[in-house]
Amino acid sequence: MSDQNIDKGRRRMLTLATSAVAAVGAGFAITPFVLSMTPSARAKAAGAPVEVDISKLDKGVLLTVEWRGKPVWIVKRTPEMMASIAKSNDFVSDPNSEVVMQPAYAQNLERAQASRPEISVMVGICTHLGCSPLEKFAVGPASDMGDDWLGGYFCPCHGSKFDMAGRVYKNVPAPTNLEIPPFKYLSESQILVGVDPEEGAA
Ligand code: FES
Repeated sequence: MSDQNIDKGRRRMLTLATSAVAAVGAGFAITPFVLSMTPSARAKAAGAPVEVDISKLDKGVLLTVEWRGKPVWIVKRTPEMMASIAKSNDFVSDPNSEVVMQPAYAQNLERAQASRPEISVMVGICTHLGCSPLEKFAVGPASDMGDDWLGGYFCPCHGSKFDMAGRVYKNVPAPTNLEIPPFKYLSESQILVGVDPEEGAA
């Protein structure tokens, strides 16, 4: 073998060795970042469905969980809260949730799944500019919402009001009802937020 051929061979080996070191170096640079997130944190960041146990949730109490970085409200509505929804019909702008497409199972008076109409699951973000409305469940003056208040939610940013089904009142800035996220029941007391009843993960 000539000296020229030996030099070419050495150069090729050096190039390959340098590439390998660069690849390993890049691997070390990336791996610690990926490993710094736990598997559950990585799944959460990707918007994984969230399982919620409602077995200990008292009636009439608001439970907030996080799904895809958004607050999701879950309420086991009392009979009085359920009755207030029909009474709100004349005050809300879209009583049948027709303006913005909602899950089919939410296009009813309660905006809930038929098997558990008392369970409300909604995204707790105002449909005006994205503030988080306040729970105003107490009826009448106890909520500071006026003597005729039927119970619901109030957005302090610009005054939008929603009933116990998340239906927006007339003449407020929020244009549409609160969003119903995809969700399904895994059992009587387990809800999976992020998955439609008949489909895969949303
Ligand atoms: S953000 Fe809720 S009323 Fe404006």
